[in-house]
Amino acid sequence: MTAPAWTLEDLNLNAPDHFERGEAHEILRYLRQHQPVHWNKEWQGRVGFWNITKYDDVMFISRNPELFISSKNISSAYPIDESEIDPETDGQGKHLITMDPPRHVRMRRLVNKGFTPRAVNALEPHIRDITNHILDDIEHKERTDFVLDVASQLPLAVICEMMGVPRKDWPLMFQLTNKVLGSSDPEYQDDIPAEMRGTLEGARMTNKNGRLQMFEYFQQAIEERRANGGEDLLSTIVESEVDGQELTDEEIRWFAFLLIVAGNETTRNAISGGLHVLSEHPEQRKKLQDDMSLLPSAVEEILRWVSPVMHMARVATDDVEIRGTRIKKGERVVMWYPSVNRDEEVFPDPYTFDITREPNDHLAFGIGEHFCLGAGFARLELKVMFEELFRRFPDVQVEGEPDRLRSNFIGGVKHLPVKLR
Ligand code: HEM
Repeated sequence: MTAPAWTLEDLNLNAPDHFERGEAHEILRYLRQHQPVHWNKEWQGRVGFWNITKYDDVMFISRNPELFISSKNISSAYPIDESEIDPETDGQGKHLITMDPPRHVRMRRLVNKGFTPRAVNALEPHIRDITNHILDDIEHKERTDFVLDVASQLPLAVICEMMGVPRKDWPLMFQLTNKVLGSSDPEYQDDIPAEMRGTLEGARMTNKNGRLQMFEYFQQAIEERRANGGEDLLSTIVESEVDGQELTDEEIRWFAFLLIVAGNETTRNAISGGLHVLSEHPEQRKKLQDDMSLLPSAVEEILRWVSPVMHMARVATDDVEIRGTRIKKGERVVMWYPSVNRDEEVFPDPYTFDITREPNDHLAFGIGEHFCLGAGFARLELKVMFEELFRRFPDVQVEGEPDRLRSNFIGGVKHLPVKLR
């Protein structure tokens, strides 16, 4: 075995470079074996943090939301100088995913009804219709960009319809989501001077622009719902109360922002990543296409394999020990999902893609208090998409490598060329 090109001291999972170079799995495996609780040094004005790479440790952290809080932000990148934080666009503590108990549970209750298994199942026929419309649009083509034309379209349509965003505005939601979640990628930095593209400052500017435009959009929608009412999820949030008080416009804007952003980017990457991994494993793909009843377990294996969200961070509220390493009060821990989903102690042959894997208790949707609200929709969208795609285009082939997002947060695919028949 050749020595790795990095050392425990210098590897830095805050920078997107390791991910862009496709080294992440190798590094995470190394960390699991040699230092599963590893100190990632400060970098470019961002605080240092603990890399957490073992399954049991992520379970422990996620299941103790008072000891490990989300309200100091959920990304690995946090400024050393807190005065850099822009109160207008920083979401700390302002929406579900960055909120702590007990308020978190009360806010989540407002929208829970729209995400129960019953609510999800009731939408299956409609999700199938949307899927077929998307596939109708590529019917005449030989080749297509699977991400732009297929994978991104379904989750975008589902969450936009739920939120009452009219169809004409779906492309805007797609564009703004890319700016927010893909802000470190020069492809989405078309709103800043060329010389700033690819820099940390450029990423901050693009991210801020995306957020502000999204807020402006939803402020108008909120006013419209207040005036005219409505049946969609946004109207439900506008009319809701927590502890006897209506939500403020700011709280509603953040809620809408989270649902749109979380609802369309992640599932898009699971669908694209799913087609890619099935293409890389033709024997598994054949097995599935020969017996589509294997799809539910294939979907779980795709989620484990792709792990579309790469990390979530927490901050310790007290001193605590993990695997004999002391985490001090106020320090940040970063939970790496692609790592825990290949933890050798939990998944036999973790580097084997097996659509019949059972059990498959992956943590692609997180676990505990903040377990993904949209997991039911994501699973259903994946299932319906692969059923319809393979029914209508049984010979669809990936042609070339996926064009990956430059990010350490979202395991994104920007473009995936496919031949349809
Ligand atoms: C394959 C697709 C998806 C993946 C991999 C994914 C992943 C995740 C993960 C890892 C978390 C946990 C955050 C934490 O513990 O801090 C989360 C939370 C969340 N997800 Fe998803 N997600 C997906 C799809 C969706 C969809 C379709 C929606 C909405 C329709 C959605 C909405 C949310 C929301 C609102 C939260 C915050 C929940 C809370 O804090 O209580 N997600 N997701």
